[in-house]
Amino acid sequence: MSIDLSFIKPSLPRSGAVVVAVGKGGKLSTSGRDLDRRLKGALLKGAKAHRFQASFGKTMLFPAPAGIAADSVMLVGLDDVAKVDAEAVARIGAAIAQALDRHRVARATVFADLPAGVTVDAPEAAAQIAYGIRLQSYRFDRYHTRLKDEQKPVTSAVAVTADPVGAAEKRFAALDRIADGVFFTRDLVSEPANILTPVQLAAAARSLRPLGVEVDVLAPARLKALGMGALLGVAQGSANEPRVVTLRWRGRRTTRPDLALVGKGVTFDTGGISIKPSASMEDMKWDMGGAGVVLGTMKAIAGRKAKAHVVGVVGLVENMPSGTAQRPGDVVTTMNGQTIEVINTDAEGRLVLADALWYAQQKFKPKAVIDLATLTGAILVALGQERAGLFCNDDQLADRLGAAGDAVNEKIWRFPLDSEYDRHIESRIADMKNVGSGRFAGSIAGAKLLERFIDGIPWAHLDIAGVTWRTRGRPLVPPGGTAFGVRLLDRYVADNLE
Ligand code: BES
Ligand code: MN
Ligand code: ZN
Repeated sequence: MSIDLSFIKPSLPRSGAVVVAVGKGGKLSTSGRDLDRRLKGALLKGAKAHRFQASFGKTMLFPAPAGIAADSVMLVGLDDVAKVDAEAVARIGAAIAQALDRHRVARATVFADLPAGVTVDAPEAAAQIAYGIRLQSYRFDRYHTRLKDEQKPVTSAVAVTADPVGAAEKRFAALDRIADGVFFTRDLVSEPANILTPVQLAAAARSLRPLGVEVDVLAPARLKALGMGALLGVAQGSANEPRVVTLRWRGRRTTRPDLALVGKGVTFDTGGISIKPSASMEDMKWDMGGAGVVLGTMKAIAGRKAKAHVVGVVGLVENMPSGTAQRPGDVVTTMNGQTIEVINTDAEGRLVLADALWYAQQKFKPKAVIDLATLTGAILVALGQERAGLFCNDDQLADRLGAAGDAVNEKIWRFPLDSEYDRHIESRIADMKNVGSGRFAGSIAGAKLLERFIDGIPWAHLDIAGVTWRTRGRPLVPPGGTAFGVRLLDRYVADNLE
């Protein structure tokens, strides 16, 4: 059950909680000051007495306040009001959602007029608060069949004040479509691999058709005819057939798409014959995270009717060991006729992407291409779970992606692609091998292989292995699948292509 979010004219509710923001030094908004007056100064007095510093996102609850009908009042801290931008307001929404849940509040009214000094305009602030509440409220509990009442989320309805209501509603409608895309990705990434096979992931892609997305699904016979030997080599060990899915959103009537998004969709990565150790192998159900982000982004931009022409291509396979699996040492031929010696069957993502990238460019002739992949464990060594790795052949594209990531707090960090790294993937018997030599620069070696499948257009590769799943949440991102990349790419499209 999702939270019922609505916008209302400012007025004190007769029940439930009332939430007001406060900046450092006790800075209240107009409605905050009114409320404090009705409570005979209890708000600021109580905050001071309990050393509430209005630190960012910290909350304080005043139960059963005398003088008003509401059940409780909650303060939420903004810290320095001058530093509060739209993204920060969404994070305030997230903090409110968490605190309401913690205090087991069922219904709340949030006063969204913020203290003087906040530069975010009023309808935007109201919409961002609701958006933050929405993003934070995500849960994947499809497989809990007997949750006790106290284990279920309590908050069922939040009203956010806005004047006029219509402007906030309009702005929120677009943000809520982005949240739909984020939730779609989180659901896909959370699904176990026995449920979400390549065929089922293709079916999930088809579910975007009612939004106006053109979806095509390519089955193995077609992939063979196209010569996708690298992708098929990964798939050949699995009883679950591979698929390649293309998606197209024509928000602008141009012949060439502005952008192609390409995603690694390994629905489960055992490593193949180069099998992984069993510790944490269950994490490899989210090795389709790149494909999940492509589908979620398509859902977001189609949902809000973005004025851009964007295509998506996802390569969907399962990497299993079996009597039919490919062996270390096998040589495969890609769609563009290059040969790859498969030294390690666990470096399968780049094999899938080699063919998916080439197909995306040949089929659609996009002006630029961005791929997303949970490609290397080495990116975790370099960046941890805080930033994704960026590899890019074009400074403008790199800068614009960096800016989009900063704006939505999905941060990325650029790595080099110097030609000196090419020797890492030289093979004795083929055009290249699928791993570097030794343990050094593992993420760059992966990116360098992908680079060989780029046909002279601006290209960016996002290695999202470190950011796709989190056991501990962060603001706007509950524990589990993060959908890192959806908000970034949606923002990139909005700022640069529309
Ligand atoms: N899917 C993994 C990368 C990965 C690791 C994703 C940890 C998420 C968390 C990828 O297919 C892989 O196995 N990469 C190998 C490459 C190596 C064999 C060159 C790796 O990182 O060990
Ligand atoms: Mn692997
Ligand atoms: Zn993998």
